[in-house]
Amino acid sequence: MDLSITLGRLKLGNPILVASGTFGYAREMEGLVDFAKLGGIVPKTVTQAPRAGNPPPRTVETAAGMLNAIGLDNDGLDHFLKHYLPYLRTLPTAVIGNIAGKTEAEFLAMAEKVGRSTGLAALELNLSCPNVSGGVDFAIDPAVTKRVVAGVRAVCSLPILAKLTPNVTDIVPIAQAAADGGADAVSLVNTFVGMAIDWKRRKPILGNVTGGLSGPAIKPLALRAVWRVARNVKIPIIGIGGISNIDDVMEFLIAGASAVQVGTANFFNPTLSGTLADQLPAALLQLGATRVADIVGTLAG
Ligand SMILES: Cc1cc2nc3c(=O)[nH]c(=O)nc-3n(C[C@H](O)[C@H](O)[C@H](O)COP(=O)(O)O)c2cc1C
Repeated sequence: MDLSITLGRLKLGNPILVASGTFGYAREMEGLVDFAKLGGIVPKTVTQAPRAGNPPPRTVETAAGMLNAIGLDNDGLDHFLKHYLPYLRTLPTAVIGNIAGKTEAEFLAMAEKVGRSTGLAALELNLSCPNVSGGVDFAIDPAVTKRVVAGVRAVCSLPILAKLTPNVTDIVPIAQAAADGGADAVSLVNTFVGMAIDWKRRKPILGNVTGGLSGPAIKPLALRAVWRVARNVKIPIIGIGGISNIDDVMEFLIAGASAVQVGTANFFNPTLSGTLADQLPAALLQLGATRVADIVGTLAG
């Protein structure tokens, strides 16, 4: 059984990764999770300058999911490189940095700096965080998406993953733009903008009023996004959205994802990703497959 997968220039031992913002900087999971079982880890998004994030409450549970409006709370790029990366580079799995810039220039400056450090297997561009005001939703515009990806590729030799927002009319042209810009793969999807209301107080529950919906509730939406991009764009896809068991993993692979990231499920089952990697060979065998690539994008009909 060959679980290894290829995402452009990025090769991973297996297709089960953990998603940015749901696994801290990995050290938080030490002792709980056998990192060697994972195909890769994507730590929390890092921005150029430290960010305090949004006012609380920042999360609320919803039917089969959760809303979050963390607001990219992080200690900034220099802190990441100095304090988190030395630990991350010791882990027995691929670590994929995740950055968000406030401007295109900031994206490029950050990517250049990250590219000069060792220990990362790839760089995921968070082109899609819906919680941050000030023009950060880069991936609602194909031209901007292509420009940022191409610019990052020119200054950073790491494989590039473009993480896209589902909060667009049509995600296909955006994924195509990422491909045209030279992305090695697209990560689909980030959270869907939503809100929750406390009607007795007539108040929004989240301090930020709106937040990003994630968890099992969004799986069918994410699956459709993956399926549509897989049919229309020739670039590997990492499927993300509501994955919480091996059937979910298999559905994303069949829809056209070459790998998946587990997000919200880490909060209710931190060891899930390792379990999924353990369960994958038997699931592949059920389809008579001996390699992950044998089943990617094989939806019948
Ligand atoms: C609490 C929380 C924080 C998140 N923070 C980030 C982040 O910093 N950067 C990012 O690219 N995605 C972030 N995400 C989005 C997830 O990586 C993932 O794309 C999304 O939650 C959908 O997957 P899921 O349904 O499995 O959670 C966050 C999600 C949650 C729930």
